[in-house]
Amino acid sequence: METILLKNIEIPDLDSIDVYMGQGGYGALEKTFALPPEEVISMVEESGLRGRGGGGFPAGTKWKFLPKDRERKIYLICNADEGEPGTFKDRQIMQYNPHQLIEGMAVTAYAIGAHFGFIYIRGEYDWIAKILVQALEDAEAKGFVGDNILDSGYSFQIDVFRGAGSYVCGEETALMESLEGRAGRPRLKPPFPALSGLYGEPTLIHNVVTLACIPFIIKNGPDAFRAIGKPRSYGTRVFGVSGHVNKPGAFECPLGISLKSLIYEFAGGIKGNKGLKAVIPGGISSPILLADEIDLEMDFESLAAVGSMLGTGGVIVIDEDASIPLIAQKAAKFYAHESCGQCTPCREGLNMIKILMDRIVMEQGSSNDLEMVMRLCRYMRGSTLCPMGDAAAMSIGTMIRKFRGEFEELIHD
Ligand SMILES: Cc1cc2nc3c(=O)[nH]c(=O)nc-3n(C[C@H](O)[C@H](O)[C@H](O)COP(=O)(O)O)c2cc1C
Repeated sequence: METILLKNIEIPDLDSIDVYMGQGGYGALEKTFALPPEEVISMVEESGLRGRGGGGFPAGTKWKFLPKDRERKIYLICNADEGEPGTFKDRQIMQYNPHQLIEGMAVTAYAIGAHFGFIYIRGEYDWIAKILVQALEDAEAKGFVGDNILDSGYSFQIDVFRGAGSYVCGEETALMESLEGRAGRPRLKPPFPALSGLYGEPTLIHNVVTLACIPFIIKNGPDAFRAIGKPRSYGTRVFGVSGHVNKPGAFECPLGISLKSLIYEFAGGIKGNKGLKAVIPGGISSPILLADEIDLEMDFESLAAVGSMLGTGGVIVIDEDASIPLIAQKAAKFYAHESCGQCTPCREGLNMIKILMDRIVMEQGSSNDLEMVMRLCRYMRGSTLCPMGDAAAMSIGTMIRKFRGEFEELIHD
């Protein structure tokens, strides 16, 4: 099975620049500087790479939104906030294979004309931030980042910025507010970051995994990338499988792998030989699937077709003994705590949902309370400033819709 991101992860000290170079590392960057920037952009567009941060937007299209004016200041940001519950894909790359990310950023910067880049990493990943800082120092010493990269006259500086533990700071514009030194609150869009992002300048922002795919595409060509996965969902994904499985872990598989084989082969099946109740397929914000809905392929379209989403690729497996109302209550607590408070539907809606869910789980709730949660979820959808309110409403609303009986059992009107 062809892998792109965790391929050499078993090699000791892959985070050292010499070991990475020994595996052909930074070869893509050398190739890049022999190409005109437009050709690099075309290669990424032809590869069909889609963003791995959650939305799945085509990377090449996003690059083309940036101004062509090479005199303008353009920023490149790597989103390493990884705050979505159930998600652990970025850390695998940053901790074990940091140079692939740095190489991907340097290639991208050259293509789009960026001279400044940031890796915005969640504060909780302090030990990984240190690995990145060391890797950047080593890359600069070898001339792969910094001034005059590979004697080309092109400069690209990368800084590592630690977040302060806020989920909403993973949202691209909240992240930019935070980078600028303000409270991390999402901005109204449009304007989109490609036109007005960090410090009001054009900005390209990508997830760690998206950027770490770039060296493979440049080195092997877009067709090699398209040969992996399935139409419209090319390449691989690092799926983090957690919950009630025998072997939780991060597994890199081609897009389109069956969810069943992820759970029963890669993750070793359900713990204690229990039955499966449900699966959350792409981080807590992706709507929950029933056990009889898991016969599907893990790609963008297949998940959308069953009313869920590929999201972050964080697969949370739930066994027959788990309580869905308890999971919904925890999700509500999380979202209410993380709401930035800027828009009313999200701030008030999530706080109210949390109060009602607490009441229901403590068996003090009424049918009206359950109805009110569903109504709030409906009101919130499409009416919040950023997608967080939508995600929360979809996640909690689907749990209630699909497992209504479990919620009703807790209600004694
Ligand atoms: C509440 C919220 C949290 C998010 N958290 C992250 C995150 O931790 N990492 C990430 O890459 N994208 C996150 N996103 C998505 C980003 O806004 C953005 O779409 C992404 O960084 C684009 O990268 P991509 O093109 O590589 O997918 C989040 C979005 C929302 C609404």
